Amino acid sequence: MAGQTVKDPIVQAALDHATKVEREAAIAPDVPADTPFPEVKQAAVIGGGVMGSGIAMALADAGIPVRMREADTDALDKALKRIAATYAVSVKRGSLAQAEMDQRVALVTGAADDAALGEADVIIEAVFESLDLKRQIFARLDAAAKPGAILASNTSALDIDAIAGATKRPEAVIGAHFFSPANVMKLLEVVRGKASSKSTIAGTVALGRRMNKVVAVCGNCDGFLANRSRGPFIAEMNILVEEGATPRQIDKVMLEFGYRMGPFATADLAGHDNSYANRKRRKRADRAYRMLPIADRMVELGRRGQKTGKGWYRYAEGDRTPLDDPEAERIIAEVRTSLGIAPRQVSDDEVLRRMLYASVNEACRIIAEGVAARAGDVDAMWLNGFGFPRGRGGLLYWADQRGGPAAVLEQIRQWHAAMGARWVPAPLLVVLAEKGLSFADAKPGLV
Ligand SMILES: NC(=O)c1ccc[n+]([C@@H]2O[C@H](COP(=O)([O-])OP(=O)(O)OC[C@H]3O[C@@H](n4cnc5c(N)ncnc54)[C@H](O)[C@@H]3O)[C@@H](O)[C@H]2O)c1
Repeated sequence: MAGQTVKDPIVQAALDHATKVEREAAIAPDVPADTPFPEVKQAAVIGGGVMGSGIAMALADAGIPVRMREADTDALDKALKRIAATYAVSVKRGSLAQAEMDQRVALVTGAADDAALGEADVIIEAVFESLDLKRQIFARLDAAAKPGAILASNTSALDIDAIAGATKRPEAVIGAHFFSPANVMKLLEVVRGKASSKSTIAGTVALGRRMNKVVAVCGNCDGFLANRSRGPFIAEMNILVEEGATPRQIDKVMLEFGYRMGPFATADLAGHDNSYANRKRRKRADRAYRMLPIADRMVELGRRGQKTGKGWYRYAEGDRTPLDDPEAERIIAEVRTSLGIAPRQVSDDEVLRRMLYASVNEACRIIAEGVAARAGDVDAMWLNGFGFPRGRGGLLYWADQRGGPAAVLEQIRQWHAAMGARWVPAPLLVVLAEKGLSFADAKPGLV
């Protein structure tokens, strides 16, 4: 927690670091603090699925009226019911008063047509993860929205510039990437497109703060800062399973490290569809892209996570406890055999270092490209988007405590020799190590 005081000076230093980087992450260096932006009196959300409902609730929680637009009246009805049902759970648990629930539910109203969106100062799109669909929607928003309105997309990875290009006002378009569940998770990743104006950036940051989010601004690239830097962690955990580790072992390692939930249990909770679709899209764009054959096989067999009652684990009806599943173990064994892999014992320390160092290396590329303005932005995103243990300060802060760039580079060079191309050291990592700098010193322009 921000401002928390603990006895252990090492943990205290990590907590202080966390508080500092969270404050800084919202600052885009070229956007002056006094940049004027439109005040949001009315918001709209397009798409009321998992994310759209959560975003509408997060807006209502901040006292902002929201118009919800869905594909048809049935879907709209479902979205509004989902929102009321989620609030009702909080009332039942005693964390929300009935009167507050009534007020918040009343703030979210359906929009029967696009004309109803004309009042909104900000419109946040959260339809399916398809560039074609999002471009169609943004062309419609361009026609319906009032001048000066912010047009934001909650895409997890798609090109913000391509979405902005569907409008005649690309300066008003920006990424507003919330994390699931959007009414709970603290991070808002604000993704600036090539054309996003300073006023659009400042307005989106201010809205995020009003929604009590930790706001972090970054540049546009496939996966943006947060998901792109986490990609190698996810790939590595899958490859470790191919080699012989188990999802249960890897989850245990990460729980012991301080995460509240292991990454395989987290993947089951989030559902596997979006990541599967993104892998297929990346493979189409790049033949060398490495698919994750076990995860792919799970999805193809209908094991799409908790919502289907099974994924990496199985789940009893109405219970979220991840249970071991011999069927999942059999699928893992079958894919290993088809890949010609004889499973080996993988140590817990190897699991931890491979997953985290893979992401540290990618974070160096992201910083070198200027997608992240500061090393601390990576930490702020990992702490608030992915549940990285706060007492460890964030991904790069942790790596600095483990010997910094020199130690990480030495290990990555060994893995590069043993495992090949995915372990090519990032040029910025090499520069940091050679100059005796720490990850905290990493910034664009060093390579
Ligand atoms: N699920 C996550 O963990 C997560 C996290 C961050 C971002 N995202 C992104 O958020 C977006 C939505 O994801 P989701 O998981 O909520 O998907 P979802 O399938 O739960 O919801 C999508 C909703 O969009 C609606 N929709 C489809 N076409 C529409 C149209 N023409 N007009 C209005 N509504 C329409 C659908 O009816 C559906 O309710 C995607 O871009 C996804 O990548 C998802």
